[in-house]
Amino acid sequence: MDASSADTSLLPLDQRAALGGGASFWRTKSAPGVAAVAMSDGPHGVRYQSGAGDHLGFGASDPATCFPPAVGLAQSWDPDLAHRIGGALADEAQAAGLGVLLGPGINVKRDPRCGRNFEYFSEDPHLSGVLAAAWVRGLQSGGVGASLKHFAVNNQEHDRMRTSAEVDERTLHEIYLRAFERVVRDARPWTVMCSYNRINGVYASQNRWLLTDVLRDAWGFDGLVVSDWGAVADRVAAVDAGLDLQMPGDTAGDDAAVVAAVSDGRLTEAAVTRAADAVARLSARVAAGRREVTVDVDAHHRLAREAAGRSIVLLKNDDALLPLDPSRDVAVLGPFARSPRFQGGGSSHVTPTRVDSPLDEIRARIDGRVTFAEGFRLHADGSADASADDGAALRAEAVRVAGAADVAVIFAGLAASQESEGFDRDDIDLPADQLDLIAEVASAQPNTVVILSAGGVLHLAPVHEAARAILGGALLGQAGGGGIADVLTGVVNPSGRLAETVPLRLQDAPSYPHFPGEHSRVRYGEGIFVGYRGYDVRDQDVLYPFGHGLSYTTFEYSDIALSADPDGVDAVVTVRNTGRRAGREVVQIYASVPESSTSRAPRELVGFGSVDLAAGDSATVSVRVERRDLAYWHDRLDRWVVEGGTYRIAAGASSRDLRIEADVEIVGDSVRQDFDAESTIGELMSDPVGAKVLEEVLASFGPLGEDGGESLGIDMVRMAASIPIGRAVRSFGGGGVSADDVQALLDSINSRR
Ligand code: BGC
Repeated sequence: MDASSADTSLLPLDQRAALGGGASFWRTKSAPGVAAVAMSDGPHGVRYQSGAGDHLGFGASDPATCFPPAVGLAQSWDPDLAHRIGGALADEAQAAGLGVLLGPGINVKRDPRCGRNFEYFSEDPHLSGVLAAAWVRGLQSGGVGASLKHFAVNNQEHDRMRTSAEVDERTLHEIYLRAFERVVRDARPWTVMCSYNRINGVYASQNRWLLTDVLRDAWGFDGLVVSDWGAVADRVAAVDAGLDLQMPGDTAGDDAAVVAAVSDGRLTEAAVTRAADAVARLSARVAAGRREVTVDVDAHHRLAREAAGRSIVLLKNDDALLPLDPSRDVAVLGPFARSPRFQGGGSSHVTPTRVDSPLDEIRARIDGRVTFAEGFRLHADGSADASADDGAALRAEAVRVAGAADVAVIFAGLAASQESEGFDRDDIDLPADQLDLIAEVASAQPNTVVILSAGGVLHLAPVHEAARAILGGALLGQAGGGGIADVLTGVVNPSGRLAETVPLRLQDAPSYPHFPGEHSRVRYGEGIFVGYRGYDVRDQDVLYPFGHGLSYTTFEYSDIALSADPDGVDAVVTVRNTGRRAGREVVQIYASVPESSTSRAPRELVGFGSVDLAAGDSATVSVRVERRDLAYWHDRLDRWVVEGGTYRIAAGASSRDLRIEADVEIVGDSVRQDFDAESTIGELMSDPVGAKVLEEVLASFGPLGEDGGESLGIDMVRMAASIPIGRAVRSFGGGGVSADDVQALLDSINSRR
């Protein structure tokens, strides 16, 4: 939805500078030919504040559909669903007169403790990128701009406005920027929101490398860079680095500082015009996308329910306890059954149009008796009950109710106060009183099901031990209660998959020792080995692997066929529903490079698809693996490189349940660089021309070369391999060899290769 925008170079400098700062909490300024743009959070619902604005979710907002937050939606592994939700959000944003919805949030879930993981999709950048691109396309095709956030490396809440994420370049590109790159290239978001934190010492809002070199020059971003609310420490430095819009308003002082900086030569006028142009372009896009919309609130609630049902993960289902037989008596336990936990706290907090009560929805689907007991109390701070007696009495009553029914369904999870924007969790434990309840109920009632609601990963080993069946509900939005009832009773056959590994213990998480840093610095010491990449590289057991999720039916994989072309690989696999119910299977494609010359994760998600199959049916599922998803970031060349050689492509039901695999040959990118004085002897020896010339040179070396180092107890060839040729020849070549001689030698090698 592109539109021609006003030429801001005709505006006086002070008006151009002013366009780069917000007018109010949620609006940009206007100028001749440039209409103001209204924005609002986001992402999983419209938090439109027709009254006073705030960004922490304290103030009231108008009712809007609360779709599953990203933590839930990601478990659907369903880009079409994300696209439809984006479209529905566009309708609601249009109805509220908004031009931009501030989302999606696509930071990688580096550590299970990050307080804002509920707003992010996954520990894997491919999954996050594909889902977010679909969401952005859906939103923007409805004439409302997205704001891809928080750019970048905002993976914790602790000290988020100052901390410096210290990350090596390869890890930045492969893990933390990869999803952003995909969404920017594929879905062309109208805006990108830069984050609060610093990256390798430089604030994101003032980071020229990030905002200009990478985002605009390398990825071709043509939209507007907006600051997170309050993220600008120095507006002049920010505009110079590539920031277009400082939010929130009122920014009069900073606007004046921009004018002064141009006058005294610290800032180019071109930078100010670039920022003003970006605001004008956004305004034109918004105007072109404007539509009159009447929101069908009921239809959106139904979509929210469909999304919730599709996002639930069946983590465990021993003896096919689920789905529940509707004629049986069910004891429903836990306060979340009546007041569900369905979204996270902070700026994304939406006032829902209505909220499904799980208990009522279960009653509507079960013909037998449905009883309820509280089992534990929810406290604002999420802690166990102050009075142990009261806690024990609540549990005793729950155990009695559970024992009198055929099945117990316990709703467990975290209270809203335990996880939110603004702070991280210290642990990933469920409150002790809930664990006690689960253990006591399960020993009285073998048919115990646990349904979990939380925005982040939980320590589930004790739950896994006690309960026969577990549903991972994450946060499911306002219709989560209906979605849960649908899955519990088999109206919907669960097909959700984990978007994040559930470790056996928090301490196993690859980021564990490095999180959240200190003295405003956090070292990303685990490098590229984030999430399943880290558990896999250390061959570590986990409770539920990335991509895990069961079904009420079973699927069999056969006949994988791979065909490579210059742009990627087509993977085609046959899937058969071998059970007795219709169901949807998410087929995950992982790639490995067994003979890789670089350090890589044992496998990486490079594609996925899904298929709906009636009992007994089979179909082929075709997944396109794009060449870019096979690439790694080559530090020395400073670009993506696809290694040549054999790739193992596996199709599976999870990252640790690979069902079928085959090999395919990939033609690699050229990584040839001219040799220079810093090239090592080993590098030269692995090149045919280099080896020939070098052998002659080495033969002329002095005593060290004579017996291959044997008299010194060393393997001279291996030891010499890491010595840069310039220093080797000059230091050990017997003297008389100048830098020019070395360069001449290298020139002659380079010219003959
Ligand atoms: C959050 C953003 C949000 C903004 C506006 C900030 O505190 O980090 O995600 O869009 O406030 O509410």
